[in-house]
Amino acid sequence: MHIDIITCLPRLLDGPFSDSILKRAQDKNLVSITVHDLRDYSTHKHKSVDDYAFGGGAGMVMTIEPIDNCISHLKATRQYDEVIYMSPDGTLLTQSLANKLSLYQNLIILCGHYKGVDERVREHLVTAEISIGDYVLSGGELAAAVLSDSIIRLIPGVLSDESSAMTDSFQDGLVAPPVYTRPAIYKGWKVPDVLLSGHESNVEKWRHEKAVERTKKKRPGLFKGD
Ligand code: ADE
Repeated sequence: MHIDIITCLPRLLDGPFSDSILKRAQDKNLVSITVHDLRDYSTHKHKSVDDYAFGGGAGMVMTIEPIDNCISHLKATRQYDEVIYMSPDGTLLTQSLANKLSLYQNLIILCGHYKGVDERVREHLVTAEISIGDYVLSGGELAAAVLSDSIIRLIPGVLSDESSAMTDSFQDGLVAPPVYTRPAIYKGWKVPDVLLSGHESNVEKWRHEKAVERTKKKRPGLFKGD
Protein backbone atom coordinates (compact mmCIF):
# COMPACT_ATOMS: atom_id res chain seq x y z
CA MET A 1 0.00 0.00 0.00
CA HIS A 2 1.09 3.58 -0.61
CA ILE A 3 -0.26 6.56 1.33
CA ASP A 4 0.31 10.18 0.32
CA ILE A 5 -0.49 12.69 3.02
CA ILE A 6 -0.99 16.32 2.03
CA THR A 7 -0.49 18.91 4.76
CA CYS A 8 0.64 22.46 5.34
CA LEU A 9 2.38 21.29 8.56
CA PRO A 10 4.48 18.28 7.50
CA ARG A 11 6.61 18.25 10.65
CA LEU A 12 3.56 17.31 12.69
CA LEU A 13 3.76 13.92 10.97
CA ASP A 14 7.46 13.28 11.65
CA GLY A 15 6.82 11.36 14.85
CA PRO A 16 3.99 8.89 14.23
CA PHE A 17 5.60 7.12 11.28
CA SER A 18 9.17 6.94 12.55
CA ASP A 19 8.79 4.42 15.35
CA SER A 20 7.44 1.03 16.30
CA ILE A 21 4.90 -0.81 14.12
CA LEU A 22 4.45 1.93 11.50
CA LYS A 23 8.22 2.23 11.00
CA ARG A 24 8.67 -1.54 10.77
CA ALA A 25 5.84 -1.74 8.22
CA GLN A 26 7.76 0.72 6.03
CA ASP A 27 11.10 -1.02 6.62
CA LYS A 28 9.48 -4.29 5.48
CA ASN A 29 8.13 -2.50 2.35
CA LEU A 30 4.55 -3.38 3.29
CA VAL A 31 3.60 0.28 3.13
CA SER A 32 5.21 3.48 1.91
CA ILE A 33 4.14 6.86 3.20
CA THR A 34 5.02 10.18 1.61
CA VAL A 35 4.19 13.44 3.36
CA HIS A 36 3.76 16.38 0.97
CA ASP A 37 4.13 19.99 2.05
CA LEU A 38 1.24 21.87 0.49
CA ARG A 39 3.36 25.01 0.30
CA ASP A 40 5.52 23.31 -2.35
CA TYR A 41 2.46 23.40 -4.61
CA SER A 42 1.57 27.04 -4.03
CA THR A 43 2.22 29.43 -6.90
CA HIS A 44 1.78 32.39 -4.56
CA LYS A 45 4.93 34.47 -4.07
CA HIS A 46 4.88 33.91 -0.30
CA LYS A 47 3.90 30.24 -0.74
CA SER A 48 0.64 30.89 1.09
CA VAL A 49 -2.01 28.17 1.09
CA ASP A 50 -4.90 30.03 2.74
CA ASP A 51 -6.96 33.17 2.31
CA TYR A 52 -9.85 35.11 3.87
CA ALA A 53 -13.32 33.61 3.58
CA PHE A 54 -15.64 35.15 0.98
CA GLY A 55 -18.54 36.72 2.84
CA GLY A 56 -16.35 37.51 5.84
CA GLY A 57 -16.15 35.81 9.20
CA ALA A 58 -13.32 34.70 11.44
CA GLY A 59 -10.69 32.25 10.29
CA MET A 60 -8.78 31.51 7.14
CA VAL A 61 -9.77 29.03 4.46
CA MET A 62 -7.35 26.72 2.64
CA THR A 63 -7.27 27.64 -1.05
CA ILE A 64 -8.10 25.16 -3.78
CA GLU A 65 -5.18 25.80 -6.15
CA PRO A 66 -2.25 24.25 -4.22
CA ILE A 67 -4.45 21.31 -3.21
CA ASP A 68 -5.51 20.74 -6.81
CA ASN A 69 -1.90 21.10 -8.00
CA CYS A 70 -0.69 18.54 -5.48
CA ILE A 71 -3.49 16.01 -6.13
CA SER A 72 -3.06 16.38 -9.92
CA HIS A 73 0.68 15.83 -9.56
CA LEU A 74 0.07 12.67 -7.51
CA LYS A 75 -2.64 11.36 -9.84
CA ALA A 76 -0.20 11.59 -12.74
CA THR A 77 1.96 8.97 -11.01
CA ARG A 78 -0.63 6.57 -9.49
CA GLN A 79 -4.22 5.49 -9.60
CA TYR A 80 -5.85 6.21 -6.25
CA ASP A 81 -8.60 4.24 -4.58
CA GLU A 82 -9.71 7.20 -2.46
CA VAL A 83 -8.83 10.84 -1.87
CA ILE A 84 -9.71 11.23 1.80
CA TYR A 85 -10.29 14.56 3.52
CA MET A 86 -9.91 14.49 7.32
CA SER A 87 -12.75 16.50 8.81
CA PRO A 88 -14.77 16.46 12.04
CA ASP A 89 -17.98 16.30 9.99
CA GLY A 90 -16.84 13.28 7.95
CA THR A 91 -17.89 9.63 8.29
CA LEU A 92 -16.90 8.35 11.70
CA LEU A 93 -13.84 6.07 11.59
CA THR A 94 -14.75 2.58 12.77
CA GLN A 95 -12.92 -0.74 12.71
CA SER A 96 -15.01 -1.85 9.75
CA LEU A 97 -14.04 1.28 7.78
CA ALA A 98 -10.36 0.67 8.64
CA ASN A 99 -10.75 -2.95 7.49
CA LYS A 100 -12.19 -1.77 4.16
CA LEU A 101 -9.47 0.82 3.57
CA SER A 102 -6.71 -1.68 4.43
CA LEU A 103 -7.61 -3.61 1.26
CA TYR A 104 -6.79 -0.64 -0.97
CA GLN A 105 -3.51 0.00 -2.84
CA ASN A 106 -3.15 3.77 -2.98
CA LEU A 107 -4.65 6.46 -0.79
CA ILE A 108 -4.35 10.22 -0.60
CA ILE A 109 -5.12 11.80 2.77
CA LEU A 110 -5.67 15.56 2.83
CA CYS A 111 -5.30 17.34 6.17
CA GLY A 112 -7.42 20.41 6.75
CA HIS A 113 -6.44 23.43 8.80
CA TYR A 114 -7.78 26.81 9.86
CA LYS A 115 -11.50 26.98 9.03
CA GLY A 116 -11.16 24.10 6.59
CA VAL A 117 -10.81 23.88 2.84
CA ASP A 118 -12.59 25.77 0.07
CA GLU A 119 -15.81 23.79 -0.40
CA ARG A 120 -14.94 23.12 -4.07
CA VAL A 121 -12.14 20.83 -2.87
CA ARG A 122 -14.77 18.68 -1.18
CA GLU A 123 -17.12 18.87 -4.14
CA HIS A 124 -14.64 18.07 -6.89
CA LEU A 125 -11.39 16.60 -5.58
CA VAL A 126 -12.20 14.51 -2.54
CA THR A 127 -13.88 11.08 -2.68
CA ALA A 128 -14.29 10.38 1.05
CA GLU A 129 -14.43 12.44 4.24
CA ILE A 130 -13.44 10.84 7.54
CA SER A 131 -13.66 11.99 11.15
CA ILE A 132 -11.86 10.28 14.02
CA GLY A 133 -14.42 11.43 16.58
CA ASP A 134 -16.92 14.06 17.57
CA TYR A 135 -14.43 16.68 18.71
CA VAL A 136 -12.45 19.30 16.86
CA LEU A 137 -8.67 19.08 16.50
CA SER A 138 -6.46 21.98 15.45
CA GLY A 139 -5.86 20.28 12.13
CA GLY A 140 -6.22 17.01 10.28
CA GLU A 141 -2.63 15.80 10.82
CA LEU A 142 -3.15 13.89 14.05
CA ALA A 143 -6.37 12.48 12.63
CA ALA A 144 -4.48 11.38 9.48
CA ALA A 145 -1.91 9.63 11.69
CA VAL A 146 -4.69 7.85 13.60
CA LEU A 147 -6.39 6.80 10.38
CA SER A 148 -3.11 5.58 8.85
CA ASP A 149 -2.23 3.58 11.96
CA SER A 150 -5.65 1.92 12.06
CA ILE A 151 -5.24 0.88 8.41
CA ILE A 152 -1.56 -0.10 8.30
CA ARG A 153 -1.68 -2.48 11.28
CA LEU A 154 -4.26 -4.53 9.35
CA ILE A 155 -2.02 -5.12 6.32
CA PRO A 156 -0.93 -8.79 6.37
CA GLY A 157 2.62 -9.13 7.70
CA VAL A 158 2.67 -5.81 9.56
CA LEU A 159 1.96 -7.32 12.97
CA SER A 160 4.34 -10.11 13.87
CA ASP A 161 1.46 -12.21 15.20
CA GLU A 162 -1.20 -11.71 12.55
CA SER A 163 -3.90 -13.18 14.73
CA SER A 164 -3.41 -10.34 17.15
CA ALA A 165 -5.15 -7.88 14.78
CA MET A 166 -8.04 -10.31 14.52
CA THR A 167 -8.45 -10.44 18.29
CA ASP A 168 -8.42 -6.64 18.67
CA SER A 169 -11.41 -4.92 20.15
CA PHE A 170 -14.24 -4.38 17.62
CA GLN A 171 -13.09 -7.03 15.13
CA ASP A 172 -15.89 -9.36 16.23
CA GLY A 173 -18.25 -6.61 17.37
CA LEU A 174 -16.98 -6.95 20.95
CA VAL A 175 -14.35 -5.13 22.96
CA ALA A 176 -11.28 -7.22 23.83
CA PRO A 177 -11.25 -9.34 27.00
CA PRO A 178 -8.87 -8.55 29.89
CA VAL A 179 -5.25 -9.67 29.61
CA TYR A 180 -2.72 -10.46 32.35
CA THR A 181 0.99 -11.24 32.54
CA ARG A 182 3.52 -12.18 35.20
CA PRO A 183 3.59 -12.14 38.18
CA ALA A 184 0.57 -14.39 38.80
CA ILE A 185 0.06 -12.68 42.16
CA TYR A 186 0.99 -9.05 42.78
CA LYS A 187 0.30 -7.47 46.16
CA GLY A 188 -2.25 -10.26 46.70
CA TRP A 189 -4.06 -9.37 43.41
CA LYS A 190 -4.51 -12.63 41.53
CA VAL A 191 -4.71 -13.59 37.89
CA PRO A 192 -7.87 -15.66 37.18
CA ASP A 193 -7.10 -19.37 37.71
CA VAL A 194 -8.40 -20.40 34.28
CA LEU A 195 -5.61 -18.46 32.56
CA LEU A 196 -3.02 -20.46 34.48
CA SER A 197 -4.77 -23.80 33.89
CA GLY A 198 -3.24 -24.52 30.48
CA HIS A 199 -6.72 -25.65 29.33
CA GLU A 200 -7.01 -23.96 25.93
CA SER A 201 -10.74 -24.36 25.31
CA ASN A 202 -11.61 -23.17 28.82
CA VAL A 203 -9.38 -20.14 28.27
CA GLU A 204 -11.12 -19.38 24.94
CA LYS A 205 -14.56 -19.76 26.57
CA TRP A 206 -13.54 -17.48 29.46
CA ARG A 207 -12.19 -14.85 27.05
CA HIS A 208 -15.39 -14.84 25.04
CA GLU A 209 -17.54 -14.55 28.15
CA LYS A 210 -15.42 -11.68 29.47
CA ALA A 211 -15.54 -9.90 26.09
CA VAL A 212 -19.35 -10.13 26.08
CA GLU A 213 -19.56 -9.03 29.73
CA ARG A 214 -17.20 -6.11 29.15
CA THR A 215 -18.98 -5.02 25.98
CA LYS A 216 -22.36 -5.04 27.81
CA LYS A 217 -20.88 -2.99 30.63
CA LYS A 218 -18.66 -0.53 28.78
CA ARG A 219 -20.04 -0.31 25.25
CA PRO A 220 -23.63 -1.62 25.25
CA GLY A 221 -24.25 0.27 22.01
CA LEU A 222 -22.04 -2.19 20.13
CA PHE A 223 -24.75 -4.83 20.55
CA LYS A 224 -27.19 -2.50 18.84
CA GLY A 225 -24.70 -1.71 16.10
CA ASP A 226 -24.03 1.86 17.39
N1 ADE B 1 -9.83 17.73 11.83
C1 ADE B 1 -10.18 18.40 12.95
N2 ADE B 1 -10.86 17.64 13.79
C2 ADE B 1 -10.95 16.40 13.20
C3 ADE B 1 -11.55 15.19 13.57
N3 ADE B 1 -12.21 15.05 14.71
N4 ADE B 1 -11.44 14.15 12.72
C4 ADE B 1 -10.80 14.29 11.54
N5 ADE B 1 -10.22 15.42 11.14
C5 ADE B 1 -10.29 16.47 11.95
